Amino acid sequence: MLIPRREVLAGACAAGAAGLLAGTRDDAATADGPHQSSEAIDSFTFVHLTDQHVTHRRHAPEGYRQCIASINARKQAPDFVLMGGDMVFDGCYTAKEDYANQIRLFKEITSELKCPWRPCLGNHDVLGWGAREKVARTDPDYGKNMILKSLELKEPYYSFDHKGWHFVVLDSAYPAEGDNRISQEPRLGAAQLEWLGYDLGAAGDRPKIAVVHVAAFCNVGQIEGDPKRLAMDGSMVLWDTKELRKILERHNVRLLLQGHSHRVEDTFWNNVWYVTSAGASGAWWAGSWTGSDPGYTVVRCAGDRVCWTHETFRWEPRLDPQDAVERQRIAEQQAERIEQLRLRDLEQASRQAR
Ligand SMILES: [Fe+2]
Repeated sequence: MLIPRREVLAGACAAGAAGLLAGTRDDAATADGPHQSSEAIDSFTFVHLTDQHVTHRRHAPEGYRQCIASINARKQAPDFVLMGGDMVFDGCYTAKEDYANQIRLFKEITSELKCPWRPCLGNHDVLGWGAREKVARTDPDYGKNMILKSLELKEPYYSFDHKGWHFVVLDSAYPAEGDNRISQEPRLGAAQLEWLGYDLGAAGDRPKIAVVHVAAFCNVGQIEGDPKRLAMDGSMVLWDTKELRKILERHNVRLLLQGHSHRVEDTFWNNVWYVTSAGASGAWWAGSWTGSDPGYTVVRCAGDRVCWTHETFRWEPRLDPQDAVERQRIAEQQAERIEQLRLRDLEQASRQAR
């Protein structure tokens, strides 16, 4: 039987999930308490749902349905769901027919949401653009064409307004032209950054929230204690974080929602919160990924303030017969949790004995 992760890390989760105001801290448990009166009138919640990696494998459709049901069952219904990218399992190294089936499955299950939703592209939502691509560059669906058409999106980045807040959806899948093929780089690029500055400028003093797939901040090296891991390692962090953050800082953006790493992580810098949500798929529907269970983030906007909680949903991984690596990883996670419990009990007993 699996030991619930919460039993080990409840303290850490509670601290990580504390309600966070712009520049100050509040208690998420009291988010519906002290913010009454005028703020309650225009307050609303929405869900940041990222890295679903919808596939037919590993019983992922059942897992994603559980996730959607969990959002639908929330006591305070979200006004909308803001996707964070990697909605489908993969198009970069997957055959076109399989990729098309993943998009169909993603749309079919997502349509069970009781609230509207807005898409955001991730690196795996692109068809091709890499050394392992299985589609011809001349194919009309190559790159972002099929996903944009399927989701009825004119552009891969856009903005919208909701109840006095301005929202921006960014696209971190940047096409780098090579000799014979396109490869993908995790950055926004000069044209999008210029658009962003003017879009945020046009929104004036309204409070703002942005979403992007690849994070502006992701501290994998520090978390894993790996001195050889570069802070800008080429895949986990945007290459134009500095340019992006300067735009966010000068336009009253409160929060940048991030995905890609499948790890819950919150960073505050120059009055902007950078919040990474868990992957809804966890370890691609094979359990937790480096400590983050499958989940999503609920964001509450009240007045011009924002707070959030990282939420999980019930899902036991159900692996395919060939998933030996994933079985091994889950066994190692279990062993680590048991060791954590043993050490905690040992250290608590020592304290009581003093
Ligand atoms: Fe990703």
